[in-house]
Amino acid sequence: MRAETGILSADETAFLTRQRVARLATADAAGAPHSIPVCFAYNGRNLYIALDEKPKDVRVTRLKRVRNILENPRVALVADRYAEDWDLLAYVMVRGRAGLLEPGVDEHTAAVRLLRGKYQQYEGMRIGESPVISVHPERVASWGALDVASGGAEPLLDALRGRRSVRRYLDREVPGVVIDKVVEAARWAPSPHGTQPWRFAVVTQSETKKRLADAMGEEWRRNLEMDGQDAAVVEKRLEGSRGRLLDAPVLLLLCLYPGDLDAYPDPERQRNETVMAVQSLGAAAQNALLAAYEQGLDAGWMCAPLFCPEEVTTALGLDPELVPHALLTLGYAAGDPPKRRPRRPLDNLVVYRD
Ligand SMILES: Cc1cc2nc3c(=O)[nH]c(=O)nc-3n(C[C@H](O)[C@H](O)[C@H](O)COP(=O)(O)O)c2cc1C
Repeated sequence: MRAETGILSADETAFLTRQRVARLATADAAGAPHSIPVCFAYNGRNLYIALDEKPKDVRVTRLKRVRNILENPRVALVADRYAEDWDLLAYVMVRGRAGLLEPGVDEHTAAVRLLRGKYQQYEGMRIGESPVISVHPERVASWGALDVASGGAEPLLDALRGRRSVRRYLDREVPGVVIDKVVEAARWAPSPHGTQPWRFAVVTQSETKKRLADAMGEEWRRNLEMDGQDAAVVEKRLEGSRGRLLDAPVLLLLCLYPGDLDAYPDPERQRNETVMAVQSLGAAAQNALLAAYEQGLDAGWMCAPLFCPEEVTTALGLDPELVPHALLTLGYAAGDPPKRRPRRPLDNLVVYRD
């Protein structure tokens, strides 16, 4: 994986990535300032701002922000958080050079995908037909509680609702400190009798990912062929799954460690002990997903290791006692808007008994 080095720190990146709105400041040739709120997306190298909702006969080059950029490409963009609790105040200001990306250029296509991935509202809008403003950061300044997830009234619910399964990532390295926090969150999950019967493996090297993908692919191929699937369909599905593993910057494997389970003389209690351990592995996975989201990453869940545990432990050289259960892909989301599964209404799920 090619590392793309930005000038923003991990905290600055996380803060900026999660902000929904920023202020873009431009100036004309004489230096007269102009500042407007904008929706934006950041891919680790550049910031992108769509030019949207113009009546057909208004050329985007007549917009003040665009005219300013054409006269003077130096811009600043500030994303900030205000909260009545002033311990939560924070901002990131990026200064850099702006330009216009025209439709048809690869970077324009990628920017539109990125913006649509962040803002579902852009799905129904024709932003692909207009130029996109790109800002290349040259200097960054930040202040305040950047590492606090949200200053909103419901920060945890916001994160729970905002998290989504992502299956395509930008070709961008994830800093080690960010991965560490994801694993740190996982280990605080509840577990039966506090036994913490899980172990984690972090994979970042492409050679190791390939070994893992090859091992899991072979087993999956056998299963699909056993199901009588058409050969072309088998190839397509295997290719898709392999691509997901190789293109994700980080893979986090969650394994059960049966050696930590309590032993019972009767099979029923023993079975339930295992069920509880698996339940707690799910809690560890959710902790990891939320910690990833909080830091500006996205994640996807792959159940494949469950179907070929031995192939996985062998490919990664893990303790053969471990039982791989889930693989989380982690990275910065590429622009594919993930299709959210609508949630069932609460009254379908809950009954209240006084
Ligand atoms: C136990 C479990 C296994 C899953 N396995 C896969 C998988 O193998 N491949 C995949 O693309 N998504 C997998 N998912 C993700 C679900 O498809 C996803 O969570 C669901 O569609 C809801 O979407 P959301 O995560 O964006 O809210 C799995 C989720 C869970 C909880």
